[in-house]
Amino acid sequence: ETMHADLVLHTDRPGAVIDPNLHGQFAEHLGEGMYGGLWVGETSLIPNTRGFRNDVVAALRDLGVPVVRWPGGCFADQYHWRDGIGPRDQRPVRINTSWGGVEESNAVGIHEFMDLAEQLGAKTYVNGNVGTGTPREMQDWIEYMTSDAPNGTLAQERRANGRDKPWRVDYVALGNELWECGGNMRPEFYADLYHQFATFVKTKDGNGPKKIAAGGYGDNVRWNEVLLRSNKKDIDAITMHHFSLPTGDWKKKGPATGFDEAHWMSVLRQALQMETLIAAHSAMMDRVDPNKKVALFVDEWSNWYDVDLGTNPGFLRQQNTLRDAISAAIVLNIFHAHADRVRMANITQMVNVLQAMVQTDGARMLLTPTYHVFRLFKPFRGATQIPVTRQAPPYRFGKDQIPALQAGAARTGDGHVQLALVNLDPHRAAQVALLTDAKEAAGQILTAATMDARNTFDAPDMVKPAPFTGARLAKGRLLLDLPAKSVVVLELR
Ligand code: AHR
Repeated sequence: ETMHADLVLHTDRPGAVIDPNLHGQFAEHLGEGMYGGLWVGETSLIPNTRGFRNDVVAALRDLGVPVVRWPGGCFADQYHWRDGIGPRDQRPVRINTSWGGVEESNAVGIHEFMDLAEQLGAKTYVNGNVGTGTPREMQDWIEYMTSDAPNGTLAQERRANGRDKPWRVDYVALGNELWECGGNMRPEFYADLYHQFATFVKTKDGNGPKKIAAGGYGDNVRWNEVLLRSNKKDIDAITMHHFSLPTGDWKKKGPATGFDEAHWMSVLRQALQMETLIAAHSAMMDRVDPNKKVALFVDEWSNWYDVDLGTNPGFLRQQNTLRDAISAAIVLNIFHAHADRVRMANITQMVNVLQAMVQTDGARMLLTPTYHVFRLFKPFRGATQIPVTRQAPPYRFGKDQIPALQAGAARTGDGHVQLALVNLDPHRAAQVALLTDAKEAAGQILTAATMDARNTFDAPDMVKPAPFTGARLAKGRLLLDLPAKSVVVLELR
């Protein structure tokens, strides 16, 4: 059975420019997100450049990571930057009480993170410590990173540690999830702390980082409103986090593979919910900040499942399947549609943790279905969003229903239209029709035979994009045949 859908691209009503940072990443000191996954150390047999593994860095360079957030997450509020500078064999070993209680060698500190960002060609997003840090510690860290004073003690210390020129710090967040792991605070208390800390995030030339206030979870708009009303002069962006758990229950979230259709639908419904959450936050922000000076950064978002059998529960290691690819495409389309207010997003996380781009097993590496979606969506970065309306039947399962089709579009700098389509229905193909003056339509499709198809270290290419052959153009009309459970990204010329 095939469903029919109509799309209208409102090319006469261009929206905002899609900030490339909407495809941003997050690398926390969590499980094998950093150690093993990115950092193996200079003496490792795994080929590396100054300690960072070449295979993973090459895959991420190919993806073109626009921005990386580091070192947490919850870890950020227990992290003290001085632990991570100086000779590596003399750095203190701490306990990562946020994630698994394992030893944190501090082999990766600010010098290594900045090197990683340079190797990736990514902007830098440093998440500061408010939960267990002090304004003084934050002030010193900023000076250490950004000062070029010839005799400044901190600048000299940085030089002695191997870095002559100051680094560019693009973004600094003050704390993370302060309502829970960052210190279990009230928003009013955090708002005061935020401004206290932000006062001392100063650089000589005023060319300082953008300052980010840590927002509430999901629909906790009130938390963000308290922050925004507190003094918006000093806030460049406020964050929001949203995770999709198949069961909605943090104690038993549901498996990453071998799930049933109810869990398929539940995860896609929660991906679509990103729209509702952004709309709620945007409505509040439009009231308090009508000129849209302050951005909303969704600096953590992903699917979150029970960990893989036999793995450390604190390491948040989960398989990545076609379901993750489909939901990532849905969420990216939503971000693009809200590019006027949402100007950064960081999927959790880049390597080995939760809905990762890349997974490693010793010396082996694989690209996940989610990686392939980010790659397909690359042309949207920096393009101008085009509103899309659609008429499509719902996808029904049991008593529940959600839209069966989702779409996003944008015009790239060279004038071509990018179109991203998602068929959420795991059973029905869709025939989609739209009017266009394009002469050519070409692109790629990502789909697979089963809802939980995935790549493994032994079969790493089970789920990967293929040329899309389902497009027909005739007399100003484009007909697209989308298989069930698929993502298609096309360029119309
Ligand atoms: O991404 C994993 C964790 O999820 C982060 O450390 C925390 O901020 C969030 O709760």
